[in-house]
Amino acid sequence: MKKLVVANWKMNPQTEAEALALVSSWEHNLKQEQKHCDVVVCPPAIFLPAVSKHLKAVKLGAQNMSWTDNGSLTGEISDIQLKEFGVEYVILGHSERRLNLGETDSVVNAKLVEALKHHIIPILCLGGEAGAIENEMKTLVTKQFVQCTKGLSEHDLAKVVYVYEPIWAISTMKNSRPATGEHARDLIEHVYMLLEHRMPAKAARAVKVLYGGTVNKDNVHEYAKYPEICGALVGAASLDAENFWQVVAEFSRESVHHLNT
Ligand code: PGA
Repeated sequence: MKKLVVANWKMNPQTEAEALALVSSWEHNLKQEQKHCDVVVCPPAIFLPAVSKHLKAVKLGAQNMSWTDNGSLTGEISDIQLKEFGVEYVILGHSERRLNLGETDSVVNAKLVEALKHHIIPILCLGGEAGAIENEMKTLVTKQFVQCTKGLSEHDLAKVVYVYEPIWAISTMKNSRPATGEHARDLIEHVYMLLEHRMPAKAARAVKVLYGGTVNKDNVHEYAKYPEICGALVGAASLDAENFWQVVAEFSRESVHHLNT
């Protein structure tokens, strides 16, 4: 399966010039990796129009969207507006939005349904909730998966990109530590099992499930070596062109390796 690496810039960088400098360095590198690894960049919404003009091979994603396509919703951005700038993906259910902005599973569910209605691919984060602890992640992931995908058809479920991103592994959390590759693989298998309850195994195995949480050039091999881990959601390391590029290159390399073994 072709790998996918998603850059989540969060509320960075501070200026449009910095955002453009970052993506132009990527475009050059991507030409070599494109065959085995897709790359999506999710800049702050304010930079989407400028960044979209500079992208050729890298795809564009948003970090959030409204659960409805119109209405009096101060400060919100609709999926129709996002599509205007070529947005193809949207991150939903990120733990920072759950923690700091009170997003619940039912809000995430409404956004997921809305994104699919307008053909934007949701990148659904699973594993982020206050108080989550390592040995209870399967219970949390199951709960979030069931609630967030409520009412989705088998066909729609298969269009979503899933990310196992334990909150305690996000680099900016206090006392954070990245998950081990083995733990990430185990939870990703768990997501596949949840998918297999809702669709035939063959269809479930064609869906992408990524890992997120402090992925960078120094630890990427720990995740990329497992064929079940289809890529990564990268925060801090995606703001450093060289660091990010090594993450993409490693997934690309491992993808070729898995094809040949
Ligand atoms: P991190 O962020 O790579 O800095 O841990 C990942 C994320 O929050 O999506």
